[in-house]
Amino acid sequence: RWAAATGDRTVLLAGPRSFCAGVERAVEIVERLLERHRPPVYVRKQIVHNSRVVGELERRGAVFVEELDEVPEDATVVFSAHGVSPAVREDASRRGLDVVDATCPLVSKVHREARRFARDGHTVFLIGHAGHEEVEGTLGEAPERTILVERAEDVATLDVADPERVSYLMQTTLALDEAEGIVAALRERFPALKGPGSDDICYATTNRQDAVRAVARESDVVLVAGSANSSNSRRLVEVAQREGARAYLVDNVTEIDLDWLAGARTVGLSAGASAPTVLVDEIVDALSGLGNLDVTERTTATETVNFSLPKEVRHP
Ligand code: F3S
Repeated sequence: RWAAATGDRTVLLAGPRSFCAGVERAVEIVERLLERHRPPVYVRKQIVHNSRVVGELERRGAVFVEELDEVPEDATVVFSAHGVSPAVREDASRRGLDVVDATCPLVSKVHREARRFARDGHTVFLIGHAGHEEVEGTLGEAPERTILVERAEDVATLDVADPERVSYLMQTTLALDEAEGIVAALRERFPALKGPGSDDICYATTNRQDAVRAVARESDVVLVAGSANSSNSRRLVEVAQREGARAYLVDNVTEIDLDWLAGARTVGLSAGASAPTVLVDEIVDALSGLGNLDVTERTTATETVNFSLPKEVRHP
C-alpha cells in the first residue's frame, strides 16, 4: 500500500480554507479568559466543532461541559460559537453565572431574524440539520412558531396556520446548492414566503465551498481537514464529491488511508472553518514523505472579515 501511494504529486490548496472570523473570535475569547482567570474556564459545548482546538484549550485549562448544571455557582462560562437558545441564557442568569458569549455575530443575526418573523406572527421554516447546536439555539427563539426543514421532500407535508405569513431562515453552514433547492420548494408551495434580508449561509461557508469546488474539478482526490461533527467541513466533502472528485474528511493526518492516494497525482486540500491551519500543514508534510510535491494555492476569494471581541475580553 505504501508503494502504491508513493510518487510525485501536485497539491492544490483551496483558498480560502480553515478558520473563519467567527471561529477566530471564539477561540480568542477562551484564550484570553485562560490568560486572565485562573483555570478552569468553563465552556458550554465545544467552543467550535474541532477536536484539535478543543483538546488544545482543554490542555490549557478550559473545561467543556454539555449543560450549565455542570458549571459551579459564580463561575465564568463561555457560550460556544454556535449560539444558544434564550432558555439557556435565562438559566445562566438565574444561576448567577458570569457569561461571556462567543456566539458568532452571523449566527446572532439569524436569531434576530427569527425573533422578528415570530413577532410578525409568521411560521418560520428553519432550513438546517436536526440536532446541530446552532439549529437548537435558533429553534429556541420561537419554538412554537418554528419548523425545522431538512429536505426538499419534507415541504409537501408541512402544516402551517396561515400560508400567507410564512418565512424561512437557514443554518449558516449549509451547502448553498442544497439549501436553494429547499427554498425553491418552499416558495412553490407558499408563494407569500419571505426570506432573510441577506443570506444566512455565511460568507465563510460560501467561500470555502466555492474554493473546494474549484480544486475538486482538477483533483483526483480531495482531502478536507475537519472533525466529523463539523457541519461546514462535512459540506465541503459533499460539495467536492458533487463535483466528481473522490473526497474524504480527516480529523487529522493519521486518518488518511494510503489506498486513497494510490494513483492520485493531484490532491486537493481544504479545511473546514473550525479546523486550524496546522492540520493542513501536517497533511502537506505527510504527503511530502511520499514523493516530491508541487504545492499550489487556488484562491477564489480573499477575506477581510474580522469581528470585534466582546467587552469582557476586549481590552488587553
Ligand atoms: Fe460564523 Fe460562518 Fe464561521 S457563521 S462561526 S463565520 S462559519
